[in-house]
Amino acid sequence: MSADRRFDLLVAGELNPDLLVVDPHLEPVFGQTETIVENIRMEIGSSSAIAACGAARLGLRVAFVGVVGDDAFGRFVLDALDRADIDVSGCRIDPTVPTGATVILSRGADRAILTAVGAIDRLRGDDIPRELLAVARHLHVGSTYLQPALAADLPDLFAEARGLGLTTSFDCNWDPTGAWDDGIDPILRAADLFMPNLEEARRITARTAAPAAASELLRRAGVGREPGRAFTLAVKHGAGGAVAMRGAWEYEVAEAAVLPVEVVDSTGAGDSFDAGFLYGTLADWPLRDTLELAVACGSLAVTGIGGTTAQPTLAQARHALVAAGR
Ligand SMILES: Nc1ncnc2c1ncn2[C@@H]1O[C@H](COP(=O)(O)OP(=O)(O)OP(=O)(O)O)[C@@H](O)[C@H]1O
Ligand SMILES: [Mg+2]
Repeated sequence: MSADRRFDLLVAGELNPDLLVVDPHLEPVFGQTETIVENIRMEIGSSSAIAACGAARLGLRVAFVGVVGDDAFGRFVLDALDRADIDVSGCRIDPTVPTGATVILSRGADRAILTAVGAIDRLRGDDIPRELLAVARHLHVGSTYLQPALAADLPDLFAEARGLGLTTSFDCNWDPTGAWDDGIDPILRAADLFMPNLEEARRITARTAAPAAASELLRRAGVGREPGRAFTLAVKHGAGGAVAMRGAWEYEVAEAAVLPVEVVDSTGAGDSFDAGFLYGTLADWPLRDTLELAVACGSLAVTGIGGTTAQPTLAQARHALVAAGR
């Protein structure tokens, strides 16, 4: 990895804990009924922060910018990032709003996700310290639909980052408003890499077939319109693995199946995938190897409770790929 910049990766985005209720047979019952469950845990949550932790675990030098409230949840997530060796000097505490929080009811591969936005949508493009931007190689933003104000700033922020020599990426995650509007298009055109899951790709493009949805996203990203500027699309499909496309006028395609794992809790699978994909991309790996690492990171992440507890080191991910005959 290049050492001329202090950070390989600057992640900007939501920062909140996940309160996980995990039980393979979870069936919440209303009517003041008390139900005993296997596990309740608090872990670092949010797409952006889980991706940042995954990248740090793989060995990238990571800085994070986000907003939390002046409360126990905020201190918990800042402390967790710090312990993961992530620079949090650019994070801001907003005492007027509680830290966002997510409650996840998880039974193996399926989850219900309840989020109180709190400080999650307080981050703005202007909050990103320019002195951090200037010393990073890549800028990644998670959950753009949860942060509409930040999303509106992203085309300019990504252009500014590009001017400073950074590459950029984002993961939109789910749109809780259900609007899936075309506000995403200017971000697509400004970014180098987009990592949605298949269902998100379908909703954004109103195309059901996976290849049609991918082609439409590439079209909207302006692939082929700016000669020489490559764009990469990585579409995640849960237990179905993932597909990636990279190119300018013509693009190459890679596909990868998941590793055979026992699913404990799928929280953070997509964000751990993002971390792996960012690692391979920043290391200039071929597309296929990058996708294989990403899928390995996603697959291993589902073997533990919470988004970050089972995230692999590079050696662990490689070992798992070799053990699976890849
Ligand atoms: N059931 C599973 N078994 C094995 N691997 C899985 C499973 N679910 C997810 N993964 C791994 O995680 C990657 C990302 O999965 P997914 O499609 O769930 O992303 P996502 O929907 O963005 O996740 P998130 O809910 O974290 O946002 C997959 O490509 C795969 O590598
Ligand atoms: Mg996702």
